[in-house]
Amino acid sequence: MKQYSYDESSKYYDLLETSDKENKERNDFLEKAFKKYKITSVFDLTCGTGAQAIYFLKKGYSVKASDFSKGMVDVANLKLKKENLKQRFVKGDMRDISFGKAEAVITMFNAIGHLSKKDFIKTLGNIKENLKPKGYYIFDIYNLKDMPRDLPLKKHIDIIKEKENTILVRFCENKLNLKTGILHTKHELLIQHNLEGYKTIKSHWDMQLYDFKEIKGILERNDFKILEVYGGADRSTFKDKTSQSIYLITQKQ
Ligand SMILES: C[S@@+](CC[C@H](N)C(=O)[O-])C[C@H]1O[C@@H](n2cnc3c(N)ncnc32)[C@H](O)[C@@H]1O
Repeated sequence: MKQYSYDESSKYYDLLETSDKENKERNDFLEKAFKKYKITSVFDLTCGTGAQAIYFLKKGYSVKASDFSKGMVDVANLKLKKENLKQRFVKGDMRDISFGKAEAVITMFNAIGHLSKKDFIKTLGNIKENLKPKGYYIFDIYNLKDMPRDLPLKKHIDIIKEKENTILVRFCENKLNLKTGILHTKHELLIQHNLEGYKTIKSHWDMQLYDFKEIKGILERNDFKILEVYGGADRSTFKDKTSQSIYLITQKQ
């Protein structure tokens, strides 16, 4: 599996990949689960620029957070500094990082899609090590069965954004292998500052997707029981063929 290099475009991640609305929805989803299962300590093993970890830290939860990309961790740590928060996040790999024992581990916003199936299983083993007995693992991944419905394959512009003096235009091309569940994406990001000549960042990478049956099997074989499943952060009913995502609250057995 070809990895996506978040380092190159980490400065633009918040503008390109998420919105305040989406982040709020994901945090509301988590907060409901944390309250319901009386969770107060959380390890975020794919914190990115801090969308979940900073939110819950500010809410008074005990949070430790890490990410594979130094660029993403640097952006998150800058935000912590700006907010006068003492804590810092660290560069780490969800496959082997060891933080101690928490009541919950999270890897939000399709983060496990960056792992091969074999590495996802390895990660589940590591998550078990990072969880207290009966701890919770909460995550989401795009639903492979829904993916072909709206996925544009031909080269197209998928994002145009403008903020302050920066304009971002991104071209995107996708290829989905339904047998392996691997989505191959090519991006060409054009960045222009202050009407100067533009810079191009080219990248291509793979994302491993799952349908519900497969992810359920993997979780169960690796000692995680599914407690709740939804079709999105809005807690919509999960529909096997038409839900865009699989949102899961699971418990270590
Ligand atoms: C789509 S981003 C999600 C980040 C954040 N949770 C959010 O909601 O914005 C996926 C993140 O997974 C991280 N990632 C990919 N492979 C990883 C690994 N093996 N260990 C830790 N983080 C990883 C990437 O660096 C990236 O920051």
